[in-house]
Amino acid sequence: MILLRFSKEIRVLSIYEIESLLNLNTHFVFDNFLIAKTNFNDKIKRLAYTKEVYKVIFEANENNFEKKLNQFNFAKIYKKSFSLKTHNIEKDFEKKYANIIYNKIKNKQNPKVDLRNAETKIVIFKIKNKMFCCFLLWENKEDFESRKPHNRPSPHPTSMNPKLARCLVNIVNSKTITDPFCGSGGILIEAGLMGLKTIGYDIDKAMLNRAKKNLDFYKIKNYQLKLQDATKINKKIRGVVTDLPYGKSSKLTEELGNLYKNFLKVLKKHKKGRAVVCFPDFVDYKKLIKKSGLKIEKEFSYYLHKSLTKKIIIIH
Ligand SMILES: C[S@@+](CC[C@H](N)C(=O)[O-])C[C@H]1O[C@@H](n2cnc3c(N)ncnc32)[C@H](O)[C@@H]1O
Repeated sequence: MILLRFSKEIRVLSIYEIESLLNLNTHFVFDNFLIAKTNFNDKIKRLAYTKEVYKVIFEANENNFEKKLNQFNFAKIYKKSFSLKTHNIEKDFEKKYANIIYNKIKNKQNPKVDLRNAETKIVIFKIKNKMFCCFLLWENKEDFESRKPHNRPSPHPTSMNPKLARCLVNIVNSKTITDPFCGSGGILIEAGLMGLKTIGYDIDKAMLNRAKKNLDFYKIKNYQLKLQDATKINKKIRGVVTDLPYGKSSKLTEELGNLYKNFLKVLKKHKKGRAVVCFPDFVDYKKLIKKSGLKIEKEFSYYLHKSLTKKIIIIH
């Protein structure tokens, strides 16, 4: 069993990212915690909005927690040094629990406490009247900040926030990711860094040049870029993750409407598996999708600024 602590700000999307990437069916979600009966695997390290992943050593009710704590052989999981932190538990109890753990390790070896950088980071969570005794397996140290559009060698203002891009790629959960409106490559960079095969199309040569510079800068190898009108794609497209062009006006121009309609037609005909398409909120995307014969599996809102919210639509 593992326990994941995810981002509070973007809660529903964070949960959906975990469920999609790890193919989870049954799990328990409370607040910004998700507990699942699954083992740790390398795919977990791809998660964008998950902050930490813990191994659950045991769970207990409040009244039998101390007994179970006394029974567990902490020397078994101890490596070099340890720390104990608690979540939602009074300080006095934290001290008491730390002493119990210390003495349990002391029976077998000489324990070293390191509150800053312990090798074994034990955390006790109280979540909705249940106690979870855990140790840290993985912490998200991905440097999204350095990959924000303005920090790339060939920046462009329309490019997607790297954390969001990574999350959307994870939701599609395919070995190949295609962005038919790839722009300067924000989505492709995240997919490429996770070792996925990436394909980008754009109608604008200057944009493809930007994407190439950016992908090369991040040393991404397995990519293809092609000058292509996305509404005229005539072959299978796998793992679509895309952010549609919004245009400059706040109203949907006829031209933009036709672009969306024609692209959805292509998607209906050629898409393999799930697709994630981002629309601006001022567009009647529900009507457009319905007309195309595609189905909305799920949708999310992502606030950008006062006059624009992105609608993230999962299509199947
Ligand atoms: C919002 S940007 C994409 C940003 C990209 N997802 C990123 O994160 O860098 C939209 C892109 O769609 C391209 N575009 C517009 N019409 C197109 C069409 N018919 N086919 C392909 N690309 C098109 C534009 O040139 C622009 O680069």
